[in-house]
Amino acid sequence: MGNGDVGIELGARVAGALRRGLGVEITPAEAVIRPSTRDGVDYQCNAAMSLAKKLGKPPREVAQAIVDDLDSADLVATAEIAGPGFVNIVLSDAWLADRAAALLGDERLGVEPVAEPRRYALDYSSPNVAKEMHVGHLRPTIIGDAILRLLRFAGHEVVPHNHLGDWGTPFGMLIEHLLDEGWTPGGGHSISDLNGFYQAARVKFDTDEGFATRSRQRVVLLQGGDGATLALWEVLVEQSTQHFEKVYAELGILLRPEDIYGESFYNPYLADTVADLEAKGITEVSDGALCVFPPGFTNREGDPLPLILRKRDGGYGYFTTDMATVRYWIGERDMTDLLYVVGAPQAQHFAMVFAASRMAGYLTDAHSAVHIGFGTILGEDGKTIRTRAGGTVKLSELVSDAVAHAAKTVAERSSLDADAQERVARAVGIGALKYADLSNDREKDYTFSWSRMLAKEGNTSVYLQYANARCHSVLAKSGQDVAAAPAVALTEPAERALALALLRLPAAVDAAATAYAPHKLAAYLYEAATTFTTFYDTCPILKDDVPADVRASRLVLTKLTSDVLTLGLGLMGIEAPHEL
Ligand code: ARG
Repeated sequence: MGNGDVGIELGARVAGALRRGLGVEITPAEAVIRPSTRDGVDYQCNAAMSLAKKLGKPPREVAQAIVDDLDSADLVATAEIAGPGFVNIVLSDAWLADRAAALLGDERLGVEPVAEPRRYALDYSSPNVAKEMHVGHLRPTIIGDAILRLLRFAGHEVVPHNHLGDWGTPFGMLIEHLLDEGWTPGGGHSISDLNGFYQAARVKFDTDEGFATRSRQRVVLLQGGDGATLALWEVLVEQSTQHFEKVYAELGILLRPEDIYGESFYNPYLADTVADLEAKGITEVSDGALCVFPPGFTNREGDPLPLILRKRDGGYGYFTTDMATVRYWIGERDMTDLLYVVGAPQAQHFAMVFAASRMAGYLTDAHSAVHIGFGTILGEDGKTIRTRAGGTVKLSELVSDAVAHAAKTVAERSSLDADAQERVARAVGIGALKYADLSNDREKDYTFSWSRMLAKEGNTSVYLQYANARCHSVLAKSGQDVAAAPAVALTEPAERALALALLRLPAAVDAAATAYAPHKLAAYLYEAATTFTTFYDTCPILKDDVPADVRASRLVLTKLTSDVLTLGLGLMGIEAPHEL
């Protein structure tokens, strides 16, 4: 790690004390330093218990060795043994103050890039062509985007890729429908209503025998690489991509057209991948289909579950493509870690793909492959959300609703002009949409509620954005340049608590990035903002009778709070306007 975290620094000191006192070697992380929940204690060291077992010594004796050598250090004010062998640590005020002051002007706010960067391939968003993005795409899109930002900021290399569903049987009917509508490639047509287009094709397919036959023949032509058919297919992909682009731009999502690696991209790799798996001797023919049976996967009857590589009719499916994704990103792009942000129902699909990839040696101990699953978004009635008419909610509508709801909140108390109000409403609305999602443990379902996500109190982006705007307003009113004299003095408990909270950003970024868990960053930001609120309520900054040096110090803390909130929200793809 070594990511600028105070806990890791303390861990290094504990390791030093143990080396000198008992002659044992541990890493800073093995010192198990955790923020303490006890009043008046900053951190707790939990290493003595487990070490005691290893060393065959009483835990308190190990704790004593830590304490004996630690309190001489500059950063520790007191270190005391508690209970069976915990060590309670209080940091020195002067050290905390200097450390906080040093963050001023530091773009990374103390977060050091990871020592050993990894190479991540990150599959996220991944909607299907010829359909509009709907509420079901919200989570894979914004969770993936936050993970991309987090991992990059942590210092890793990340290649995002958008696994568009752009291949398969529906394209036969879609292309035939295009032709019926008189389309030609380059004819300058555009589909204003993707869903309507899809539904019209579907209806014809279900009711018109001739159309259905033509559609099936068209699939064969498409898969056979017929030029004219491919040109029409490209029109469909292009039309859909334009729609996705628009939604991504509205939502502030980093994915670009060049990040598209749709199912069709892997086509040229499928036959070769299947042949390779056959050559490795891990395939079996079952019911006419070529399969791998990764051990440990069975159906309800206890029969082994097949990962189907080639169907009885010779066709390839979803499994085949995903085996090819693993082989491509590891083998051709030299990635170390594969991440797939896809809903929980596909957990078994990915578990089987990963297991088969390990059997084939595509994945080795040097690699990780992770399905980043997530729960469902529920309506306030506890069921999956739908429109009033019972349809699926379009993502673009959700975005405009969010902005409209936010506009009301903003207009209520804002002194901004109309243009600024609109900009702020976007930041607040889209922020709320993202934060309501990202602040929840992604594995769990969550309930979608405009009033809750736009509440000014509680763990919401609006609360964080208001706290940040308050900081900016104080700084503007002060008329001072905080960077000119970045001296911090911590005398009031609320000042000290705020400095301590600000210094925990590196730990929060690390925890969120390592577990692919943006909610850990959100929880931290909320804690930092509430700590700031207490500080703001109890420590006057601009009042006349505040001494100049105290004011200067408090302004530094205020500036740092705003920096931390802005950076943290940014890592979740959320803007932090100066004024609200
Ligand atoms: N398009 C798929 C769907 O809508 C998601 C694709 C996820 N990525 C993958 N490599 N399978 O369900």
